[in-house]
Amino acid sequence: MRHSNTRLEHGPAGGPSVQAFAPGRVNLIGEHTDYNDGLCLPFAIERGVNVRAEPIRGGTIEAYALDLDERDRFQLGAEEPGEPGDWRCFVRGAAAELRRADIELGPCRLEIAGDVPRGSGLSSSAALSVSLCLALCAVAGAEPPERIALARLCARVENEWCGARTGLLDPLAALFGEAGQAVRIDMRGPRLQAVALDLGGHVLATLDSGAAHTLAGESGYNERREECAAACRELGIDSLRDATRTDGLPEPLGRRVRHVLSENERVDAAVAALAAGDLEALGRLLDASHRSLRDDYEVSVAEVERTVETCKRAGALGARIMGGGFGGSVLALFRPGAELPAGAVAVRPGPSARLAETI
Ligand code: GLA
Repeated sequence: MRHSNTRLEHGPAGGPSVQAFAPGRVNLIGEHTDYNDGLCLPFAIERGVNVRAEPIRGGTIEAYALDLDERDRFQLGAEEPGEPGDWRCFVRGAAAELRRADIELGPCRLEIAGDVPRGSGLSSSAALSVSLCLALCAVAGAEPPERIALARLCARVENEWCGARTGLLDPLAALFGEAGQAVRIDMRGPRLQAVALDLGGHVLATLDSGAAHTLAGESGYNERREECAAACRELGIDSLRDATRTDGLPEPLGRRVRHVLSENERVDAAVAALAAGDLEALGRLLDASHRSLRDDYEVSVAEVERTVETCKRAGALGARIMGGGFGGSVLALFRPGAELPAGAVAVRPGPSARLAETI
């Protein structure tokens, strides 16, 4: 993450302006495992969020969300949380958490623009927090925290400032993605390992269900986290990674634990299927993941089920709900040359978050 400006612009305060980009992500498999110390297999995508920052005089941060045509302005050092789920929480949270990490920020103007649809399960929120952090550090001439620490900081922004108890999956994917590669993440550690995503001409595509999800506040997402914590208490363990049984647990806790344990196994089965070039097997794993998320974890909704069926009717080898659930996009795997259903967007692994050239 080197600052690679070839030509610098200067803000009203005389310092150079900077631009940071962070990608959204697709999670190939390994859903609702991150906050259970489990396994995931995401990749960064080419779409994401751009934040342009220029230094200004005074003591404030001014932010402008171009797509929404909305603004925010607050005093550096006196950040107040906004409405849960609102984009302003991310800006205030990023500034506050960076300062808490002893990074000295300066007053600046931020311009935010992105092409990851919000609420679509492609992690527009981690793309926003990661790009904000990189831009805020760079415009102040400060080194950002190293990438694992930065991922944790971004999760705190979302947990403590935006009301969503999300895990490390999304910021780690945004910070460690590589072109052509997925990354197997063992959240215990976390330990990361690049996995070549060689699809032999097969195509991964996302299709938006049209039902936008939210992870904040009284969401089903936060409720699932509570249920996992309750299951841990019943089993006398700290993390579902250490669960060895589902029997004897009251429902729905038994089903929730069964999903987490079987999904961890599917991640390594998917890594093996990729290594063997067995894309049919990968498709079956996506289907199995979907059934588990629908029946055991109960995070699907009617719109998502219709979208999965659309993909399967179009010949998908496998299709599943992706991300936090309760709406969002479906991920499907198609044979080489297949005609994608209307609205489906092919996705490929792209590079991680970075500072861009400002021209
Ligand atoms: C959302 C959260 C992640 C993860 C997924 C489900 O994307 O941000 O931390 O829990 O849901 O796998």
